[in-house]
Amino acid sequence: MTTSNKSSNTVWHHATVTRQRRAELNHHQSTLLWFTGLSGSGKSTLAHALEERLYQMGYHTSVLDGDNVRHGLCSDLGFSNEDRVENIRRISEVAKLFIEAGVIVLTAFISPFRADREKARNLVGKDFVEIYCHCPLSVCEERDVKGLYRRARNGEIKEFTGISSPYEEPNNPELVIDTSTKNIDECVDQILEDLIQRGVYERKHLV
Ligand code: ADX
Repeated sequence: MTTSNKSSNTVWHHATVTRQRRAELNHHQSTLLWFTGLSGSGKSTLAHALEERLYQMGYHTSVLDGDNVRHGLCSDLGFSNEDRVENIRRISEVAKLFIEAGVIVLTAFISPFRADREKARNLVGKDFVEIYCHCPLSVCEERDVKGLYRRARNGEIKEFTGISSPYEEPNNPELVIDTSTKNIDECVDQILEDLIQRGVYERKHLV
């Protein structure tokens, strides 16, 4: 999959409705909350639970979820290293568009490679918040909500993250959530508290 720019002779149009103006209308800034972790580590569950809380607080949000996005935008991609790189590249670009549109974006992708997460960070800049859903492989495997670990161990699924394909832990994420010892509400509380501390959200919005 090539990522080179094949679009020559194009001109960038600048919007008059800027990100800052959208922020003023929405009464909040846009941010990218990037959840990463093994399959079954709780990324999607947490992203949706956090979105629910943010929505109730009046924030404009959108969740981009690995399984969902692979039904549409990325339905042509599999799980080879090359396809995962392209998957994350597309998501990063889509997330950037959402951010420009003033939305708080929550992404829930394994995003196993450090280099790709760094590219997403560099694309978005200071508003990238990396949230590592830390959960031992043994716990994810025991949960096996989708039955995929069992099938991967049986050799029915190739290149499965944590079994036959690598997961590179973040070196310096903004936030580490231990999803094996905390329940969903505790995890969401921890994320919200951290985001407030960082000045991303204001406590006054809390209901
Ligand atoms: S990523 O590696 O490219 O970031 P992504 O988050 O989009 O992965 O998709 C992961 C989801 O696809 C998993 O939660 C799981 O449900 C499903 N899946 C199917 N095959 C695999 C595989 N080989 N490795 C990991 N996840 C897989």
